[in-house]
Amino acid sequence: MKFLASAMALLGALSLTSGAPINTTNELPNGLPFPSASELAVIEQNAHGTLPNGPPPPVISNKGINNLRLIAFNELFEVAYFNELITNITEGKDGYRFTDSGDRDDALRSLKAILAQEELHAISANDALVHFHVHPIQPCEYTFPVQDFDSAIRLASTFTDVVLGTLQDAIERFVLGHDADLAREIAAVIGNEGEQQGWFRVLQAKIPSALPFLTTADLNYAFNAVKSFTVPGSCPNIEEIPLRTFESLEILEAPGAKTENITFTFNDPEDQAGHGLWMTYINQLNLPIVEPLKVISREGDSVTAQALFPYDDHELNGLTIASVTTSDGPFSDANEVVKWTLAGPGLISVN
Ligand SMILES: *[C@@H]1O[C@H](CO)[C@@H](O)[C@H](O)[C@H]1NC(C)=O
Ligand SMILES: *[C@@H]1O[C@H](CO)[C@@H](O)[C@H](O)[C@H]1NC(C)=O
Ligand SMILES: *[C@@H]1O[C@H](CO)[C@@H](O)[C@H](O)[C@H]1NC(C)=O
Repeated sequence: MKFLASAMALLGALSLTSGAPINTTNELPNGLPFPSASELAVIEQNAHGTLPNGPPPPVISNKGINNLRLIAFNELFEVAYFNELITNITEGKDGYRFTDSGDRDDALRSLKAILAQEELHAISANDALVHFHVHPIQPCEYTFPVQDFDSAIRLASTFTDVVLGTLQDAIERFVLGHDADLAREIAAVIGNEGEQQGWFRVLQAKIPSALPFLTTADLNYAFNAVKSFTVPGSCPNIEEIPLRTFESLEILEAPGAKTENITFTFNDPEDQAGHGLWMTYINQLNLPIVEPLKVISREGDSVTAQALFPYDDHELNGLTIASVTTSDGPFSDANEVVKWTLAGPGLISVN
């Protein structure tokens, strides 16, 4: 039984490789996505540590392969982001100059380690894909909606929160696919990302640890969040990642630490608003919260609507993932919300 499952997994993997040469169109620092041995040695020095050097697991499930693809897709984006942030600080661009050179040096020291650690996360996921005879994921071109150091750290904090939730989903999927060894590696990465997040939070004058149980997410939300930073058409093999693309959702004004109505816009090309839509929130490890959605206006496919953000009743601190859903649930977890998501994720951070 076990052998059959392995053979099936391997066959599934092999059928995905076409033998065509891989085009690397978008270059990243230090030879990524495919560094040479000497480039890897430099990355490991900068990362203050190495890739795991034990043997990779002999088999992987299809669920496991999709985890690795999404993780590589996300980590390559993070590499591009932190590399550009370091460049902006190093070149002293407007908005990236520090009054205290000690603060600047501290920030660069931390960011250079973070960049190299993200590089190793990306390499590890892609190496595993290659080991299982699956195309590695290639980097895209990216655009980032930040203009200064403070907004760059805020965005880093938000996407790291999404990663911290998504890796919970990855571990569960590895467990369901019997990919135990890979589950352990992801747990090691979650700790690393959590350490980064503690620093991003302190830089924003927040307490380092946001929540007792960090908000969970789903691979599909991370896929859409990262995709929103890519230049359309620039991702060489994004179509090999079998995850759903949702309509866009934008929270127009970030809510504070209180119950209030929030206004947002989303794309609704099939006029599903006419049949009833809801705003659904995922926060911590709690059951998703569903609120009625009130349409304010429509312009073409773009709908502006309002819904309650029920902070007081649910202690909605840290990351909240908002989705416009075509069902009012009740939803048992984040994966269930995904099934009914029209638009999302909207990312809300409180405290
Ligand atoms: C790789 O790049 C070459 C030259 O730009 C192009 O002709 C070819 O179609 C590309 N292959 C793939 C698989 O994208
Ligand atoms: C780097 O600076 C440019 C402006 O010079 C800005 O457009 C870009 O978003 C910045 N990137 C990061 C990651 O801070
Ligand atoms: C939110 O809006 C609804 C009507 O759309 C209103 O009844 C309710 O009082 C508002 N709640 C708050 C907290 O402002």
